[in-house]
Amino acid sequence: MKLAPSILSCDFARLGEELQAIESADWAHVDVMDGMFVPNISFGLPILAAARRVSSLYMDVHLMIEQPERYLKAFADAGADGLTVQVESTRHIHRAVQQVKELGKRAGVTLNPGTPLDMIKPVLGDVDLVLVMSVNPGFGGQKFIPDSLERIRTVRRWLDELGSGADLQVDGGVTAENARAVVEAGANVLVAGSAVYGPDGAGAGLQRLREALQ
Ligand code: DX5
Ligand code: ZN
Repeated sequence: MKLAPSILSCDFARLGEELQAIESADWAHVDVMDGMFVPNISFGLPILAAARRVSSLYMDVHLMIEQPERYLKAFADAGADGLTVQVESTRHIHRAVQQVKELGKRAGVTLNPGTPLDMIKPVLGDVDLVLVMSVNPGFGGQKFIPDSLERIRTVRRWLDELGSGADLQVDGGVTAENARAVVEAGANVLVAGSAVYGPDGAGAGLQRLREALQ
């Protein structure tokens, strides 16, 4: 079980401290949005590079950008450890996954709640991580879409059938209330933004998630 707090919900004026506060977590989830693939712009290369400089956490980069292959090398150079691409964002998902692997990074594939799961099947045997989006990407703080549980179960079954050791990550609306159900459905990496960086600070948020999973 890994927890991957999303820095999208942190206070960017205090990025260093906000990363310090999640140092006991497993990964830092880095949400890159281009205002085209999703209706929001978050941040890009300089913020990842700054995070890399002050934190030794695994940088789990989620690219919500059109034609991500244009920027894979730049994000790898800026400090990404894993690069996850949206299957809808490229005509060449297989090529994008291979490029990430050629860069020596862990390759992830993800898909929106409205995208048929079959879309990721051709690369399932190649990836190091599958991310099931449990909200429509673009914003933190949205509500978990209940149908996602069934999608997680299906992907878990497919990975097991393949004998794949890929991570199964879930992102969007994960809270202390639903974390256990998400893990029981087969996920082993939970992303949480607003549930971690809440009003009482990241330490308390992380603690609540850990307790819920015990
Ligand atoms: C959604 C992002 C998520 C987001 C999760 O577009 O991909 O990673 O930060 O935020 P919460 O946990 O608040 O739903
Ligand atoms: Zn994300």
